[in-house]
This record gives sequence, structure tokens and C-alpha cells, in this order.
Amino acid sequence: MPGHDLAIDIDRLRGRLDRLAEIGAIDGGGCCRLALSDDDRRGRDLVVGWMRELGLDVGIDAIGNIVGLRAGGTGGAPVMTGSHIDTVRTGGRYDGNLGVLAGLEVVEVLNTAGIETERPIAVAVFTNEEGARFAPDMMGSLVYAGGLDLDTALATEGIDGATVGDELRRIGYAGDLAPGHIRPHAFVELHIEQGPILEAEGVTIGAVENLQGISWQEVRITGQSNHAGTTPMRLRHDAGYCATAIGQFVRELAAGMGGDQVGTVGAIDLHPNLINVIAASAKVTVDLRNTDEAKLQEAERRFAEFLDELAEREGAAISSRSLARFEPVTFDAGIADTITGVAQALGHSTRRMTSGAGHDAQMMARLCPTAMIFTPSVGGISHNPAEHTEPADLAAGANVLLRTLLALARP
Ligand code: GLV
Ligand code: MN
Ligand code: MN
Repeated sequence: MPGHDLAIDIDRLRGRLDRLAEIGAIDGGGCCRLALSDDDRRGRDLVVGWMRELGLDVGIDAIGNIVGLRAGGTGGAPVMTGSHIDTVRTGGRYDGNLGVLAGLEVVEVLNTAGIETERPIAVAVFTNEEGARFAPDMMGSLVYAGGLDLDTALATEGIDGATVGDELRRIGYAGDLAPGHIRPHAFVELHIEQGPILEAEGVTIGAVENLQGISWQEVRITGQSNHAGTTPMRLRHDAGYCATAIGQFVRELAAGMGGDQVGTVGAIDLHPNLINVIAASAKVTVDLRNTDEAKLQEAERRFAEFLDELAEREGAAISSRSLARFEPVTFDAGIADTITGVAQALGHSTRRMTSGAGHDAQMMARLCPTAMIFTPSVGGISHNPAEHTEPADLAAGANVLLRTLLALARP
């Protein structure tokens, strides 16, 4: 089979990772490239420039997804890879970026070797995977897969009051193509694990076979501002207390349910946020995840009951709205088998695994057979500037991506 001796160039891949990480660089080696910010635009411009240098036919759709296409010999639906380059505010340099830049590295290897695959190969950069500025997360791939209508996505207001549509136009990435213009034959995403399992088990490659369900809510609490020194405890309607009680409840709910249930209160906004004023209002985000849809629904139900009880007890008005809700996803077992097979043929240890994080692949799975390749994260750390993956593991993941794409595109 042509291509059996091909290998990616880890220095070239790391060079691109380093150059991209210079855009929005923050202390500790990480990145802040919130979706549709100026730094996101600079990152996009850099990646699009690389795509064009590699001869890819670059298309941009109306939600700002970028797809670079490498023609195939016999045409047909492309095999697609890719991920995202937006980050959380305190992000690392590998989350998302690895999947995009490893896709470009695969293209460069094929170009240099003069290999024409039967099917085209597409490398995608999806808009706003993180959801840290605009909810829901995986927005670009969700719209691409038809799970969210374009107008609703464009009208989404972010944490700073800006809308997706305005920001796309401002940074010059409101494209002409209809999202979903290419329906891939298959989708494969390389990503760092962002968790501790591969490192703990000394395994190099995870073949990801499923991904847990995600429920995001925003809770708004309205109490009554009053003097912190004069107001008896029994007369308080304290939004600050409610916010912290929610944090405590979510922690205990997840711990009490056990299994795969996780729960996080990641953002609390108090008003007026002063030392001697009982908070009048609060906004709290809640992130609940479980691999089991029934258990995730149980967590949501118990949380809703707690909010009712808390509102009653504190005499506060509490409402919640869903920011994102995705059921668990099962990936394509055949592609996960291919990933396992090529990784083992390259001499790597492998395991099947679940993804704890959300990924564009979970949306693409609605369109075509999909699976993911995970590489170890040092210390299991991610969404943190200290996020790190050893070069040998980056190389292993990118080589597994190369072989998997070649197998699917039938060289
Ligand atoms: C996306 O990174 C998520 O899992 O929150
Ligand atoms: Mn990611
Ligand atoms: Mn992320």
C-alpha cells in the first residue's frame, strides 16, 4: 500500500504549534484566543495562509468555519479532519490547535511524497468550539451538522454583549458558503486527552469510542441588597449566599451520584459585589456531564428541585435557562478499530476510551462515521496555560492521524 513508510515531521508540526501559540500568548505558555476576537482573527489568518501555501482550496461558510480541501483522484466525499483554534481565556496551546495543525501536517506529508488519495482530504477549523464567549460550545460544527439554525447562532449574544454575527463580520470571517456544504465520507479528530487516564496507564493512543452528555445552565438569582451589619440573618434575601449554596450543592450532587457524574460551577457574577453589601443579584453557571443520558437527566432534575427549595428558603427569585444540552454520543466502532489497528502497527500502546470534554467530532458524528484519536496530557491538565503533551506523543498522535486518514481515503 503506498504511504506505508510515510511519517510526519514533528519539528514542522511543533513549529506551527509554537507560531500559532504566539497569537494571544499569556503567561505560563498558554493562549487566550476567545472565539471571534481579534486574536482569533489573527490565528485564522495564519492558518488560512498555511492552507493556501499547501495548495488547499479554502472555503469559509456563513458561521465562519474554514475548510481547506485537497483534491482526490477519483473524487467522492472527502475524508475530513480538523478541530478548532479558539481557546478559553486561560487556555493551553494544544487544545484544538493540535487537531488543525496535525491535519495540515498530514497534507504537507502527502504533498511532499506526491501521494494522491482516492478521496479528497479536508481540514476544518470550526468556529467557537469552546463556548467560553458564546454559548453553546461546538457552535460552528453544530451549525455545520444542522443541529442549530444559522440565524439563531448568528444572533447569539456573548458574555461581553457582542453577537456572533456582528463579530464574524467585524473579523472578516462571515463567509458565503452554506454550513454543511461538504458532507464528509468520514470525520477523524486528533485531540489531546485533557484528562489523566492515558498518562496514568502509560498508554500512548486513545481510540475514542464515545463522548459524555453535556448540560450547561445559567442560573439567575434576585434577592435584596441590604446592609451587611444591620440586617438580621433571618431577614436576608441573599443572592450571594444562594450562589455559593449552588456551588456546594453541585459538588455534593456529583460526588453523591458517583460513577461518571461530574459537576462544575465555573462562573459566579455577584452584584454589587461589595464587602459590606448583601448581594442583590447573582449569575451562576452550572456544567453537568455524564456518559449516561438517564443519569444526566436525574442530575438535572435533582438540581432543579434544589433551586426550588433554595428559592423558597431564602425568599429569592431563582430562574435558570439552558445554554447547551447535548446527549452522549457513540462514535463509529469501525473507525475506532482502524485507529487502534494503525496505532498498534506503529508500535503504540492503545486503549478504547470515553471523552470527558466536548469536541467538534461529537457534532460531525451526526453527519458521517466519526471517531477521535487522543494523546496523553501531562498531569491530566487542560484549560490551563500549563497544558502540555510530550513531543513524542504529539508525533505518535499525528502519525496515527496520517495513517487513519490514508486508510479512509484509500491511497
Ligand atoms: C469544551 O472544551 C468543553 O468540553 O467544555
Ligand atoms: Mn478542544
Ligand atoms: Mn477546550
